[in-house]
Amino acid sequence: MPIDLTEYKEVIDGALANGTPCVVATASARGEPNISLRGSTMVFDAQHLAYWDRAHGRQQEHVGENPHVVVFYRDPPRRISWRLYGQATVHAGGPIREQVMARAVAPELNRDPERKGVAVVIRVDLVMTLGGQVLQRREQQPETPERTFNIFEAVYTARSIRRFRPDAVPDEMVHRILEAAIQAPNGTNAQSWRFVVVRDPALRRELGALYRQGFREVYPADRLANESDPNRRRVMRSAYHLAEHMGSEPPVLVLACIERGPNTAATRGAGASIYPAVQNLLLAARALGLGACLTTLHLRREAQVKALLGIPEHVDTYALIPLGYPASPHGPLRRRPVAEVTYRDRWASASLQKQ
Ligand SMILES: Cc1cc2nc3c(=O)[nH]c(=O)nc-3n(C[C@H](O)[C@H](O)[C@H](O)COP(=O)(O)O)c2cc1C
Repeated sequence: MPIDLTEYKEVIDGALANGTPCVVATASARGEPNISLRGSTMVFDAQHLAYWDRAHGRQQEHVGENPHVVVFYRDPPRRISWRLYGQATVHAGGPIREQVMARAVAPELNRDPERKGVAVVIRVDLVMTLGGQVLQRREQQPETPERTFNIFEAVYTARSIRRFRPDAVPDEMVHRILEAAIQAPNGTNAQSWRFVVVRDPALRRELGALYRQGFREVYPADRLANESDPNRRRVMRSAYHLAEHMGSEPPVLVLACIERGPNTAATRGAGASIYPAVQNLLLAARALGLGACLTTLHLRREAQVKALLGIPEHVDTYALIPLGYPASPHGPLRRRPVAEVTYRDRWASASLQKQ
């Protein structure tokens, strides 16, 4: 379904005059939300909305670090409620800024007599009603790291994704993600990492079944039922979902391994030479709009996993990573603050606070 905003133009361009200005919601890279009225919101062209941001304020900072925004328009008498989701770009100078300024409604521009503001242009990817009906959706969201992502945005939003859409993930994408993975630091640059990319449906099914067996040993069915903490319950529900669907939902399973020398044991150092690559993989997947999750419970069936995939004795497996387009959104992570987990100079002395 292509995006074509021309049918919204009259309504959105006249929103302020109609007394129903658009609302724009943003979030910082850390997920701190913000919301504001944007009286100058206009349909810029068939694919883009735009507005004049005279504030130089918090919202623009948000858009600079996290381009994901949603614009909300509601006109109850006309039974209109639209949510337009997209990616925002700030134009602090140049011809686009001039064009947006020239078309912004007078009441908004008059409040910025020195024209200190910036133009914000939003490429719309999805239009939904308030009730959740999809009106328009961009077929393939070309979310490329070059265009939109900085490292902090990827780091702060690469949450574990355990529910996947069935859409295929092209080989080139997987290749690109693995290329990012193997830029990671590793002991003596020996690059002993090996990755098995499993796409074959029958193998995925068997691998998924082995993961599920391992998962159920640690998390029997009653564990979820007995969990009362709502946050832990939410994480657990998603972990159970993944365990049930590991072999069917994600179109790609990546097994991250280390090849040891013969007759040497797996060491902590070996783990330190594969998990940085796994983290690079997770971030690269995030930057390309894919979801992933670091999992390890296949280790409870490692011998069977190795036999299934023909992995030799002197290779150890470290992580099984489902990869695919997310069915649940990326977003902010829940972490304790630095000050709670960091000491200055000596263990348990004053915690590290911002200076
Ligand atoms: C060493 C390690 C093992 C993990 N194993 C699993 C696993 O077997 N299954 C799973 O669903 N998630 C697993 N996770 C993901 C964690 O549950 C997840 O990172 C944590 O809950 C934080 O959630 P977030 O990444 O969404 O912020 C593992 C993470 C790590 C670092």
